[in-house]
Amino acid sequence: MKSVLILFPLAILLAAFSPKADPEIPADIKTLLDKNGCVACHHMSRKLVGPSWMDISKKKYTAKRIAQLVAKPEPQNWPGYVPMLAQPTVPKAEMTKIANWLSKLK
Ligand code: HEC
Repeated sequence: MKSVLILFPLAILLAAFSPKADPEIPADIKTLLDKNGCVACHHMSRKLVGPSWMDISKKKYTAKRIAQLVAKPEPQNWPGYVPMLAQPTVPKAEMTKIANWLSKLK
């Protein structure tokens, strides 16, 4: 049990300072992700409460589909994760920008 307590922070440190740099999130998108609370559960490359943006981008969703899934999540797409709460209050123009960015992310 003790080793878990030591290894866990160590793993987080390693992940945080790993030399492989994440793709940059453009400043305007970052602002929208902050403002709409997405950052609480999504990170560029690491699994938080939700899958990383890079893992989501592997599903090759269209921007339209992404906007749909944020307004009305389909938790069966992500076994092993808690279901995402629907985010219907994201302003449409902002959701379009986020979805366009996410659909082009590689
Ligand atoms: C409270 C945590 C939480 C917040 C806040 C959150 N998400 Fe999620 N998100 C999740 C989880 C967990 C999943 C995976 C399970 C699911 O889809 O239900 C997910 C999945 C997703 C997916 C993939 C959907 C699919 O079906 O493949 C997208 C896209 C996404 N989130 C975008 C967003 C955006 C954009 C925001 C901000 C407006 C946001 N999320 C806010 C937790 C969150």
